[in-house]
Amino acid sequence: MMRLAFIALAAVVSCTFAQPKLDFLSDEYIEQLNSKNLPWKAGRNFERDTSLYDIQRLLSVGTINPPSEFETIFHEDDGEELPEEFDARKQWSKCESIKEIRDQSGCGSCWAVSSASVMSDRICIHSDQKNQLRISAADMIECCESCTLSADGCHGGIPYFTFTEWKDSGFVSGGEYNSTNGCMSYPLPRCNPSCKTLYDAPTCKKECDKGSPLKYEEDKHYAKQAYRIMSKVERQIQLEIIKNGPVVASFTVYADFIHYLSGVYKFDGESKLLGGHAVRIIGWGIENGTYPYWLVSNSWNERWGDQGLFKIWRGKNECGIEEEITAGLPR
Ligand SMILES: *[C@@H]1O[C@H](CO)[C@@H](O)[C@H](O)[C@H]1NC(C)=O
Ligand SMILES: *[C@@H]1O[C@H](CO)[C@@H](O)[C@H](O)[C@H]1NC(C)=O
Repeated sequence: MMRLAFIALAAVVSCTFAQPKLDFLSDEYIEQLNSKNLPWKAGRNFERDTSLYDIQRLLSVGTINPPSEFETIFHEDDGEELPEEFDARKQWSKCESIKEIRDQSGCGSCWAVSSASVMSDRICIHSDQKNQLRISAADMIECCESCTLSADGCHGGIPYFTFTEWKDSGFVSGGEYNSTNGCMSYPLPRCNPSCKTLYDAPTCKKECDKGSPLKYEEDKHYAKQAYRIMSKVERQIQLEIIKNGPVVASFTVYADFIHYLSGVYKFDGESKLLGGHAVRIIGWGIENGTYPYWLVSNSWNERWGDQGLFKIWRGKNECGIEEEITAGLPR
């Protein structure tokens, strides 16, 4: 016992000496970011006493290479001029899901929440903006074994596999926490004001929520195609979004990112690496005629960042954002 305590203490001390940098949740750290002349502003999104573990838990996306049989699509590109700005919320304004900002709660389910959002967006877009069905992120974190990195969907997953599974086995419908118009609603509450509870994914029961008139086995919705978009080719990503709707992207999160408030995010070049994250790209633009960006919706509640959204530098594969783009088409 004594021995253990001694070792733990020694480890903490050596850490402190090895890392003279500012604690990344301190006010000083945020002030320092704002003094760096970055094209974005930092502010407090997470409470001062949030633990590194809590934050890393939100960043649980697999970055393994997709299997070779995973299709990569290529859009014919005759070099036509693309719009300078594009926002899927305006392009398909009747599709409610595109406007939604989700909250993954204290669960490493970014991979499922972003995938379910993109699938829901595309079901609406490809039904002439009529079908408002939401695909259930709960079905992914609870029941999709092939999607997850470990057995537990709150400990990470891989967007490629959610789309493959959508095609092969389908997902049931289901909206946000406590919503009643689907089979499996999201099982975990929105963070209010922040997430102090970390959850494991509930056990898969292959049943719809109590009170739902739907039957799990009969409520599966499928894709006709699952694919990735050619890596690091900005125009291919744009053509895919214009033609088919929002896409899932994965990228590397550094400690500066969690403080994003507005502007065009660009890595400060020195903050600590925290993990991988999956998000939904819904458009692009050029801020003040100078800073090209992707418009991205995050899943950390609308209180985070710019009303739940952020902009990130476009065309330079910033933090790997243009590397792992995945999507599919509803059947
Ligand atoms: C664009 O201009 C606005 C208004 O001057 C400013 O607040 C914002 O920081 C600028 N954006 C960037 C990326 O510099
Ligand atoms: C969600 O539903 C449960 C059970 O009906 C209820 O106890 C809880 O208060 C609801 N939560 C919210 C945030 O509406």
